[in-house]
Amino acid sequence: MVRIVCVANQKGGVGKTTTAINLAVGMAASGARTLLIDLDPQCNATSGLGQQPTPRHPLVKRDPIHESVVKTYAEGLELLPGSRSFQDVDALAKTPAAQAATLRTHLMSELEGYDQVLIDCPPSLGTLTQTALAASTEVLMPIQCEYFAMEGLTQMINVIRSVMQQHPGRLEFGGILLTMFDERFELTHEVDNEVRDFFGEIVFDTVIPRDVAVAEAPSHGIAAIDYDPRARGSRAYLELCMEVLGRD
Ligand SMILES: Nc1ncnc2c1ncn2[C@@H]1O[C@H](COP(=O)(O)OP(=O)(O)OP(=O)(O)O)[C@@H](O)[C@H]1O
Ligand SMILES: [Mg+2]
Repeated sequence: MVRIVCVANQKGGVGKTTTAINLAVGMAASGARTLLIDLDPQCNATSGLGQQPTPRHPLVKRDPIHESVVKTYAEGLELLPGSRSFQDVDALAKTPAAQAATLRTHLMSELEGYDQVLIDCPPSLGTLTQTALAASTEVLMPIQCEYFAMEGLTQMINVIRSVMQQHPGRLEFGGILLTMFDERFELTHEVDNEVRDFFGEIVFDTVIPRDVAVAEAPSHGIAAIDYDPRARGSRAYLELCMEVLGRD
C-alpha cells in the first residue's frame, strides 16, 4: 500500500505547509518517488516549490492525476498543484457526502507509482481536510508551541476518529510535531511537556526550532533543507525526515 501522509491541523499558521514541503523534498532526496498534493486554496505548497497554481482544480475537473502533476526542482518529487479558483474551492467545500467518496477515490487513484505521498491541507476541518484524511494512511499534525496550541485539538481528534471509524484499518495517527520551538521561552517548554504528557509516544522526538532560514526559503521557491542545509531548522527537518521514514 502506498504511504499517504496527511499534514493537517485546523489551526492556521502552525507549519503544515513548511513541514509538508521539507518532508517531501527530504523523502525524494532519500530516493523515494514522492508526490506532494496541494489541497489548500492558498496554494502555499505550490508557490513554496516555485510552481504556479492551476486555473482549475484537477479534482473538480476530474482530470486524471497523472495529467495534472508537475515535476519540481527536486529530483524525484512531483507536485499536484493547488488552485485558487473560488468556484472550485466552493465546489469542493460543498461536496455532498455521496460525492465525497468519489473525490476520495479520485484522490487515491494513480498513486501506485509513488513510494510516499504527502497532502498539505487547508487550515479547516471541512470537506477538503476530511477527504484528505479519508484518503490517507496516516495523519501528521504540526502543533505550534504557543499558548493556544491545544485549543481545538479535541475537535480535530474527533474528526480523525470519525474518519478512522468510517474506514477501519486504514488511517493511523502518524505523529505530532512541535514546530516553531523557541527554547528561550518558558511557555515553549510548558507546551512541550503538556503535549507529551497528553499524547505520549506519538509525539516526534524531533522538534522544529523557530529559524529565519525556514521562513525565508519559500520566497526562493525551494525547501529550507536546500536553501540553507546547515540552518538549525533545516537540520531539524532532515532529522524529522529520518524519524518519519523510520516509522514506515
Ligand atoms: N520553524 C519555523 N521558523 C520560522 N518560521 C516558520 C517556521 N515554520 C513555519 N514558519 C513560517 O510561519 C508561517 C506559517 O507557516 P506555514 O505556512 O507552514 O503554516 P501552515 O500551517 O501551513 O499555515 P496555513 O494554516 O495558513 O496553511 C510561514 O510564514 C512560515 O514561513
Ligand atoms: Mg499551509
